[in-house]
Amino acid sequence: MMKSVLLKQFGGREQLYIGDQPIPSPTKDQVLVKVTAAALNRADILQREGKYPPPKGESEILGLEIAGEIVALGANVQNHALGSNVFGILPGGGYSQYAIIHKDMALPIPKHLSFEEAAAIPEAFLTAYQSLLWHANTTAQDKVLIHAGGSGVGTAAIQLVKKIGATCIITASSSKHNTCYDLGADYCIDYNSKNFQEVIATKYNSVDVIIDFLGASYFTKNISCLARDGRMVMLALLGGTKVEDMNIAPILFNRLNIIGSTLRSRNLDYQIKLTKEFWSFSEKYFRTGELKPIIDKTFRLEEVKDAHRYMEENKNIGKIVLTIN
Ligand SMILES: NC(=O)c1ccc[n+]([C@@H]2O[C@H](COP(=O)([O-])OP(=O)(O)OC[C@H]3O[C@@H](n4cnc5c(N)ncnc54)[C@H](OP(=O)(O)O)[C@@H]3O)[C@@H](O)[C@H]2O)c1
Repeated sequence: MMKSVLLKQFGGREQLYIGDQPIPSPTKDQVLVKVTAAALNRADILQREGKYPPPKGESEILGLEIAGEIVALGANVQNHALGSNVFGILPGGGYSQYAIIHKDMALPIPKHLSFEEAAAIPEAFLTAYQSLLWHANTTAQDKVLIHAGGSGVGTAAIQLVKKIGATCIITASSSKHNTCYDLGADYCIDYNSKNFQEVIATKYNSVDVIIDFLGASYFTKNISCLARDGRMVMLALLGGTKVEDMNIAPILFNRLNIIGSTLRSRNLDYQIKLTKEFWSFSEKYFRTGELKPIIDKTFRLEEVKDAHRYMEENKNIGKIVLTIN
């Protein structure tokens, strides 16, 4: 048996508790990992509330990313060895002492990175890479606006935009600006005291790419910030789902592309291709430290309620990590 974070029922963080579960068995294409660190994602909160179920047939246990040591190999696994340290994303089951991961989704942990650092990489960086490179085709000539720049995904996206060579503008609470500037942001907008649309219009005229997590509350402003042939990737709906009284003409006349994307719903082949491409682009940068996971705080598995509270209070700059014995 293993210790896992379980749910009494859907609801608030008080529903989380540590309980015993059977250790999962890897199928022929999977490896079993003894998990040392698992990172939090906003999706975990939605899943806890009953608003974001795992894909059919996958573990009901929270946790989309892990790092740890391989302790069992499926019959077909030839690209990993027992005792290797790996990290990667999962469809679920990360908040546990053991988790299974597909052999082609598990990446080797670069030697200088800790388990905590490795666990903080995959969901944020894969989402940011997919959004910027696959969906928005970002180039060095682009001006990119990243909302929630201090989020896990935001801190990864800033670093990738700078590696692409594009201009990076972010919105975030002012307490998160220093970190965003340190990561390479060219300009940070405090959305609490400034209208980001006015700042963009005055300072940059327009932007070519927007990475959005807000949805309805920013939709009209986002559309009016986009230059001709602009692309907006919508990754979450933190600001609601209903847009009222909007003039959609700029979408047509500015030839805008609006792309919605949820990584967890993609099939395994897509996720494997993304993982491989991302790693071949970025492994060398993680080895040199030019790309780095940003960890705000670590909590022990037993402190999972505090970790969820910290995220729900929007306190984190970068990732929150659970350490597991
Ligand atoms: N679609 C996908 O494939 C995919 C994949 C991964 C993540 N996501 C989504 O991407 C978002 C970021 O994920 P994460 O885990 O990196 O999040 P995170 O680290 O928890 O950061 C979210 C940040 O967003 C800002 N924020 C929260 N609510 C807001 C609101 N109502 N208005 C304005 N800003 C708000 C807060 O920063 P400030 O203090 O600056 O306001 C908060 O710290 C989440 O919504 C997550 O669900 C989507």
